[in-house]
Order: sequence, then structure tokens, then C-alpha cells
Amino acid sequence: MNELMRRLLFLPPQASGFARDFDYLHYAVITVSMLGVLAVALALLWFSFKYRRRTQTTDPARPRPEPLTHAQEFGTAFGLLALFVGFWCFGVRQYAVMQRVPPGGLLVYVTAKQWMWSFDYANGNRTNETLYVPTGRTVELAMTSRDVIHSFYVPAFRIKKDVIPGRTTSVWFSAVRPGVYPIFCAEYCGLDHSVMRGRVVALTPNEFAERFERTPRAPGGATHPLAEAELGGNGELTSLAARGERVAAARGCLRCHTLDGTPHLGPSWARLYGHEVPLESGAPVVADAAYLTESMMEPLAKVHRGFSPIMPTYRGILQPAETAALVELIRSLADAPIQPTAPLVSADAPAVTLPTALDGGIAP
Ligand code: CUA
Repeated sequence: MNELMRRLLFLPPQASGFARDFDYLHYAVITVSMLGVLAVALALLWFSFKYRRRTQTTDPARPRPEPLTHAQEFGTAFGLLALFVGFWCFGVRQYAVMQRVPPGGLLVYVTAKQWMWSFDYANGNRTNETLYVPTGRTVELAMTSRDVIHSFYVPAFRIKKDVIPGRTTSVWFSAVRPGVYPIFCAEYCGLDHSVMRGRVVALTPNEFAERFERTPRAPGGATHPLAEAELGGNGELTSLAARGERVAAARGCLRCHTLDGTPHLGPSWARLYGHEVPLESGAPVVADAAYLTESMMEPLAKVHRGFSPIMPTYRGILQPAETAALVELIRSLADAPIQPTAPLVSADAPAVTLPTALDGGIAP
């Protein structure tokens, strides 16, 4: 039945864990709508036959339709509303599944630009146009754009999400079987929008580990066949977090943030990722890729409680690749040991006061 409906509606293969559930809702909405259209069409035909005009003059014997009672009117309206609310409830449940990323997945950083996709992996690999993933494992994509708004669309996985400059949006999926699935850009982004394509190559976990996840070594200058990666001085691939440390030093982040849990002018990056951040205003947020990127681009939007709002914006300064490297660095410190002398900054810690030398603002 599933296969029949899928073919009838020209849907792509169901290649992700939630694709089938999404399609079931799709089938239900389509079927109910089609049955509704059919019922209206049949009623139209029947009534036009039953109440047709038989003579030129008014026919006193011509049957008159009975008006609906109030109960019938309310019943119809209530039935339609219940149907709509029912669809909505299923849709909201599926939306919630998509929004909640299961922990412990593989995180890949996606950068969109006119007119291509590139993918950065934590171990330092980078690929253009082709995203390699293992099957049966949660893959989370932290996506940003270098120029205009794009939209990451993989029909076979039933995922589509806007990719926005200066922000990080995320989607997740888990590929159910090995294969090659096309990626499209689903937001008009300029001249070559229609050819801004890529592909997801889903490999078995063994194949993925064998061919892609293992850190490639390049003693004779030979790089990993799948990666156009940055190699360190010793010929080994530089991990994304290590790149993040270089970016943090070069961009001056480490003047205010520490990596070992010691509170400084800004919150330490140790044990930050995935943890709740108490805010100056309102409810706490979880420090994920989206929050961290927002804090770099719009530092005053959600200020960590207990810290002065002194961070300058890095919008237009940090490249997406640098943002990804910094997020990965902070993520790599999610379970870092805290210096014994460094108390965790708690919600009721006193605000850190600025040394006067920095009052003129901090150069990025
Ligand atoms: Cu990128 Cu359309």
C-alpha cells in the first residue's frame, strides 16, 4: 500500500528514518482531500439531475430542497474542524521529531555559496558537492551561507531547511540504506540556482569508517582521495577543532574566553556546548551551533548571565568556515575537565567588571 501510494504520487524513495511517517500523513491528507472533492462532484451531478428545470413555466410540483437544520450545519462545521485539527496534531508531532536532534550523532558543517555546497567534518575532512554519511546513524547538519539565502533540500530524506548568512540552522536525518541521493537548492539564489546541486552518498558504517572517517595520513604528500583537506606541517590532517583554536587565537577570542573553565571577561568555552546557558533576560538556552553562531554575530541578543555585554559583533569578520571551526572547537570542549581552581560560573555569580584599559572596546 505504501509503495503503491508512493508511486501514484511520484514521491522519491524513502531513504531516511522519518520519511515513511511523513509520507503517511501526506497520503492521509491527499486521500481525504480527494474523497472530499469526489463527494462534492457527485453531489453536484446528483443535484443538477434531481432539481433540473423540467418546463418553461414554474412547476408547482417541482421538489424543493429541505434547508439544513442547525444541528446539521454545526455537525458539518465541527467535523471539518476536527479533521483539520487532527492533521495539524500529526504534523506538529512530526515537526517536533525533526526539531529535536538525537544526541551522539555525527555533526557535519555545511556551507552554501553561489552556487555550491561544501561540507566540513570534525576530523578535518572537507568535500565539495558530495556529503558522505554512514547509514543507521544520526547525522546533524549545522548550516550557514557565505552570501545569500539558500535552502538545503534532500527529497529522499524529506528534509528542507533554509541556509541563512550569519546564522546557523540545523537539520538531522538518519539514512536507512546505502545509496546516492540528490541535494537541491530550494530557494532562488541567483543565476545558477537551478544547477546548485549536490549529492548525499550514504555508505555502510564499515565503509564509511574505512574510507572516510579514519584520519588520513599523507607521508608522501598523498592526500585522502575523498578529501580536499587542509594538512598540517607533519602531513597529517588538521582536525576542525584544531583549526578552531588557530582561528580563536588569530581573531582575538582567547583574550576574553578561556578553554579550561576559568571564567574571564567572557564565559569559558569548556563545558559550554550542549549545556544550558542562563541568560540576563528570560529563560535559559542550550548552547548549540545556532546559539553559538548567534552569539558571535549578534553578541547582545542573548547575554550569558553574570557577564557584561561587551563583546563586539563578528558579523562580516568571521568567514563561515571559521565560524564552523570555532563551533567545533567549543563542541570538542563539551566534556572538558574543568580546572580545579576554576569555579563554574553559576547563575548568581557577580558580574565581571571590565578593566579600564579595555573600556574603549575590544578589537576583534
Ligand atoms: Cu542556492 Cu538556490
